Amino acid sequence: MNSMLTLLFSGIVACCAHSAGDSTSRLLLVSFDGFRADYLETYKLPHLQEFIEDGVLVKEVTNAFITKTFPNHYTIVTGLYEESHGIVANDMYDVDAKKKFSQFNDSDPFWWNEAVPIWVTNQRRGNGVSAAAMWPGTDVKINNTTPQFFMKYNFSVTFEERVEKIVAWLNSSNPVVNFATLYWEEPDASGHKYGPDDTENMRKVLEEVDNHIGFLTDKLKALGLWDTLNIIITSDHGMASCSPKKLIILDKCIGRNNYTLIDRSPVAAVLPRQNEKYVYNLLKKCDDHLKVYLKEEIPERFHYRHNKRIQPIILVADEGWTIVQNESLSKLGDHGYDNALPSMHPFLAARGPAFHRGYKQSTINNVDIYPMMCHILGLTPQPHNGTFSNTKCLLADQWCINLPEAIGIVIGAFLILTTLTCIIITSKNRVVSPRPFSRLQLQYDDDDPLIG
Ligand SMILES: *[C@@H]1O[C@H](CO)[C@@H](O)[C@H](O)[C@H]1NC(C)=O
Ligand SMILES: *[C@@H]1O[C@H](CO)[C@@H](O)[C@H](O)[C@H]1NC(C)=O
Ligand SMILES: *[C@@H]1O[C@H](CO)[C@@H](O)[C@H](O)[C@H]1NC(C)=O
Ligand SMILES: *[C@@H]1O[C@H](CO)[C@@H](O)[C@H](O)[C@H]1NC(C)=O
Ligand SMILES: *[C@@H]1O[C@H](CO)[C@@H](O)[C@H](O)[C@H]1NC(C)=O
Ligand SMILES: *[C@@H]1O[C@H](CO)[C@@H](O)[C@H](O)[C@H]1NC(C)=O
Ligand SMILES: *[C@@H]1O[C@H](CO)[C@@H](O)[C@H](O)[C@H]1NC(C)=O
Ligand SMILES: [Zn+2]
Repeated sequence: MNSMLTLLFSGIVACCAHSAGDSTSRLLLVSFDGFRADYLETYKLPHLQEFIEDGVLVKEVTNAFITKTFPNHYTIVTGLYEESHGIVANDMYDVDAKKKFSQFNDSDPFWWNEAVPIWVTNQRRGNGVSAAAMWPGTDVKINNTTPQFFMKYNFSVTFEERVEKIVAWLNSSNPVVNFATLYWEEPDASGHKYGPDDTENMRKVLEEVDNHIGFLTDKLKALGLWDTLNIIITSDHGMASCSPKKLIILDKCIGRNNYTLIDRSPVAAVLPRQNEKYVYNLLKKCDDHLKVYLKEEIPERFHYRHNKRIQPIILVADEGWTIVQNESLSKLGDHGYDNALPSMHPFLAARGPAFHRGYKQSTINNVDIYPMMCHILGLTPQPHNGTFSNTKCLLADQWCINLPEAIGIVIGAFLILTTLTCIIITSKNRVVSPRPFSRLQLQYDDDDPLIG
C-alpha cells in the first residue's frame, strides 16, 4: 500500500515536472513603450488582434509605482517592486556614492546590481543564452553579466533592424537563445508629444506599431520559429493627457535654494537643502493637486519607501497635472502618476505552446510576469514580489478555474446531486414495479452503435 502510494505520488510529480516549462522552452519578451491598455479597444490593430485570438490577453496590467519607463521595465524582468530592485526613477541621485543616474547615463552597474534580472539567471543556468534588442539594462554588466547577444541602446536603430538582429539570434542553434527581449519606443514618444487623446496622431502611430507586430510575425514564421516560440507582448505604463492649465508651479511656494530637484514630474523627488520639516511645510501648502509625502509617509500600497535612492520628500501630482519650477508645459501627455489609475495601466498579450488559446483575463500585476516567465523557462526564480497563481489561467500546463467557473461548477454539481437524489427517491418509491426499468436496461444494452 505504502509503496503504491509512493509510486502514484512520484508519477504525479514526474508528470508535473515535465509539463512545467521544460528546458527546451523559449521565450521572447516584447515591450512597446507607453502602450495604454485601452488603445486596444479604441484602435483597429489587426495584427495584434490576431495574435491575441491565438493566445491570451490580460486587459489591464497593474504596474509599479512610479509608473515610469526604467523602473517598470526592471520590475517586469525581476518581479520586484521598485524599492527592492533599486531603479526607483528615470532620474536618480545616490547621496552616499554621489552618483547620478539618467536615461542618458545609465550604464554604471552600481544602479542595477540590487537585483538579478531574468536574462542573467537564464544564462547562469547554462541551458541556453539570452539575447536583447534593447531593453533597459540589457547593455549593462549586471552582476558581471550581459546577455550573450545585445545591442547598445540607440533610439535611431529602426524596429526592422532590431527584429533582424533578434530573429537571427533566435535562429542560431549554437548557442541556443532561449530568452530574448525586444523594445520599441512607440507609442510612448507620440503619446508625450500629442497627448493620448489626439486620436488622429495616436491612430497613425498605433497602426505603425501594429505593422511592426506584423513584420515580427512574418519574420518568425519565415524562419519556422512561430510555432515553438512563446511570445509575450506588453508594455511598461500608459499615458495621461496634460494641459497648460494644470501646472503646479513650485517657484510660487518655495525658493529654489531650499532644495534640489532630483526627479521632476509627475512624481518629483526633493532633496532638502534646508531643514526638512521647513521645506516640507512650504511644499505641503503649495497646491491642491499635489500630494506631499515625507519618505516615511509614502502610502504602503506604493511599495515605494525602503531604498535610499528614494529622496526624503516625494511630490505626487494628480492625474494630468504637471510639476514645474517655472517652466511652461513641454508635453501634452505624461505618465508616472499613481499606479491605481487605469490611464497608467498597460496590457499583456501572449501566445505560444506555453499559453492557452483564446483566453482573456481582466488583470494581473506586472510583478507577476516574472514568476510566469521563470515557470515557462523552467528557471528557479530569485526572491520576488509576484504571485505565480495570478497567471495560472494563462498557462496551458496549469489547472485553473476562475471564480465564475468555480461557482458554475458548484451549482452544476449541486443540481446533478439533487437530480440524482430525486431519481433515487422516486425509483425507491416505485420499487413495487421494477419491470419497466429492466426493459429500459435491455434496450440500452441492445443499442447499436452504428445507428445514427
Ligand atoms: C555618468 O555617471 C557617472 C556616475 O555614475 C559619472 O562618473 C559620469 O561622469 C557620468 N557621465 C556623464 C556623461 O555625465
Ligand atoms: C552575483 O552573482 C554571484 C555569482 O557569480 C552570486 O554569488 C551573487 O549573489 C550575485 N549577486 C546578487 C546580488 O545576487
Ligand atoms: C545609432 O544608430 C544610427 C542609425 O543606425 C547610427 O547612424 C549611429 O551612428 C548610432 N549611434 C551610435 C552612438 O552608435
Ligand atoms: C537560420 O538558420 C539556418 C540554419 O542554420 C540558416 O541556413 C539561415 O541562413 C538562418 N537565417 C537567418 C535569417 O539567420
Ligand atoms: C526658502 O523658501 C522661502 C519661501 O519661498 C523663501 O522665503 C526663503 O528665502 C527660501 N530660502 C532659501 C535659502 O532659498
Ligand atoms: C525661471 O526661473 C529662472 C531662474 O530663476 C529664470 O532665469 C527664468 O527667466 C525664469 N523663466 C521664466 C519663463 O519665468
Ligand atoms: C519584495 O521581495 C523582496 C525580495 O524577496 C523582499 O525583500 C521585500 O520585502 C518584498 N516586498 C514586499 C512589500 O513584500
Ligand atoms: Zn515608458
